[in-house]
Amino acid sequence: MTKPKVWISRPFFPDIIDRLRDHFDVRAESEERAFSAAELAERLADSDAAIVGLADRIDGKVLEGAPKLRFVANLGVGYNNLDIEALTRRSIGASNTPDVLNETVADYAWALMLAAARRVGEAERWLRDGQWHGSRFEGWLGADVHGKTIGILGMGRIGQAIARRAAGFRARVIYHNRSRLDAALERECAATYVEKASLLAQSDHLILVLPYTPENRHAIGEAELKAMKPTAVLVNIARGGIVDDAALARALAAGTIASAGVDVFEGEPSVHPDLLKIENIVLSPHIASASRDTRRDMAALAVDNVLAAFGHGPHAGRPPTIINPGVLADAS
Ligand code: 8YV
Repeated sequence: MTKPKVWISRPFFPDIIDRLRDHFDVRAESEERAFSAAELAERLADSDAAIVGLADRIDGKVLEGAPKLRFVANLGVGYNNLDIEALTRRSIGASNTPDVLNETVADYAWALMLAAARRVGEAERWLRDGQWHGSRFEGWLGADVHGKTIGILGMGRIGQAIARRAAGFRARVIYHNRSRLDAALERECAATYVEKASLLAQSDHLILVLPYTPENRHAIGEAELKAMKPTAVLVNIARGGIVDDAALARALAAGTIASAGVDVFEGEPSVHPDLLKIENIVLSPHIASASRDTRRDMAALAVDNVLAAFGHGPHAGRPPTIINPGVLADAS
């Protein structure tokens, strides 16, 4: 019997990919690159399953060229690269990688917040540039994080993991979210719900953890940046496009806010050129989930979902993190 075909759009841990080989004919790309819609359709033309990344946009047009496709596993918790409606219409299951990355991404949000507040990137560039000839007592003054008010916009599981870390810093946490957490969870996270306007006005450090939706596009733009404290630090680990990057560059240059830590960009891997010219920003190439352990866990979860969708492994028939479980009912 011929095995179903799975296409993997980027190389990752060979031992994890090997778990598919008993059941699938595996075709894995050997290098990481961007695929056009036509290239995606071409690679999916005879694929039964696919494991894709955030740069692979799987929409109705691509699916027209993928008549056999039954399941798509996304290597990420955010899945704005997948058109879930189009997939569901064709009874194609889709999964993401929630939870396994919560703590790693929360660590990174703190890393960016601390680095931006204490000017780590700027100071390192200055040192490497051979400019350290003596120390000025008033040099390199940054902002404290301990004891301050940390604002979180988007209070899902990653936001909650960020909030829990604040206790050790004796920081106060306020948050805004589409829906308020229940009282027990608020207590556990020691987080106070506020309206978005208060969040902007009161936060010493504001961390964005919103999912990308068309409504969240430019949730932080010129007006929101003006509503923040001039001493504030903004951290974006959510998605490119949630912040208006051009407005952020202007705000940082003008001192509307003090500094920023940014891991995700509108149109990445391109970065707005004005952000690259600014000193008071820490920039990183979308690496918040990139710890060795967590990237392995994400890959393993994607593989588990594909195996399960085709009736194999411990979750046979029940992909553990399927986004559109209705398609399973359709199939049975
Ligand atoms: C990426 C992320 O998946 O999970 C998400 O939504 O943005 C990241 O963890 C990761 O960069 C792999 O592309």
